[in-house]
Amino acid sequence: MSTILVIIGSTRARRIGPAIAAWVAALGRAALPARFELVDLRDWPLPMDAEPGIPAMGAYAFEQTRAWSRKVGAADAFVFVTPQYNWGYPAPLKNALDHLYREWSGKPAMIVTYGSHGGGKCADQLRQVLEGLHMAPVATMPGLKLGRDRVEANSGLIDPAAAFADHLEALDEAFADLDAALRRAG
Ligand SMILES: Cc1cc2nc3c(=O)[nH]c(=O)nc-3n(C[C@H](O)[C@H](O)[C@H](O)COP(=O)(O)O)c2cc1C
Repeated sequence: MSTILVIIGSTRARRIGPAIAAWVAALGRAALPARFELVDLRDWPLPMDAEPGIPAMGAYAFEQTRAWSRKVGAADAFVFVTPQYNWGYPAPLKNALDHLYREWSGKPAMIVTYGSHGGGKCADQLRQVLEGLHMAPVATMPGLKLGRDRVEANSGLIDPAAAFADHLEALDEAFADLDAALRRAG
C-alpha cells in the first residue's frame, strides 16, 4: 500500500491549516487505497542556515535533516495543503522542500491551496518548484475559497466540510489524478 504524506504548509499561530489538511486526508482515505499521514512542519525544525552542503548531493550534516530525508524518502506521493501568503506559499514549506532533493524526485504530488480567492497564484508557484524538484504534480489543483469574515476573524477555527462543500468535486478529481499518477509510477 502506498504511503502519502499530507504536508501542512502553515506553521503560524492561530493557523487553520491543520484542520483543512486533516479533512483533505480523510477525503483521500475514502478515495484511494493508500495510507495518508499528516505531516506538521512544526514537528520538523529545519534551521535555514545550518546545512553546509548542496541538498542534491544527499550528504546531510545534521540528524534532523537525515530524519526528514528518511521521512520523505519513504513516501510514495505527497499532498501539499497550503495557504496563500502574499501570492506565494509560506517560507517554512519552501525551506522543507529545499532541505532535500532526490527524496522528492519522480514522485506524484497534489496541491491544495486556500485563500480568499482560493490561492491560485500560490498553487502556480508551488507547482513550478515541485517541477524543479522533478516531482509529478497532478493537473487538478483545488483552490479552496475562504470567506473574508474568516480571514478577518483569524480565529484558528474552521469546519472545512461546511466551509468548502463546493470544492468536493475538484478534490475528488485531484485524488483521481493522484491515483492515476501513483499507478503510472508503479
Ligand atoms: C502573511 C500572510 C499573507 C497573506 N496573504 C494572503 C494572500 O495573498 N491571499 C489571500 O487570499 N489570503 C492571504 N492571507 C490570508 C490567509 O489566507 C488566511 O490568514 C489563512 O487563514 C492563512 O492560513 P493559515 O491560517 O493556515 O496560516 C495572508 C495571511 C498571512 C498571515
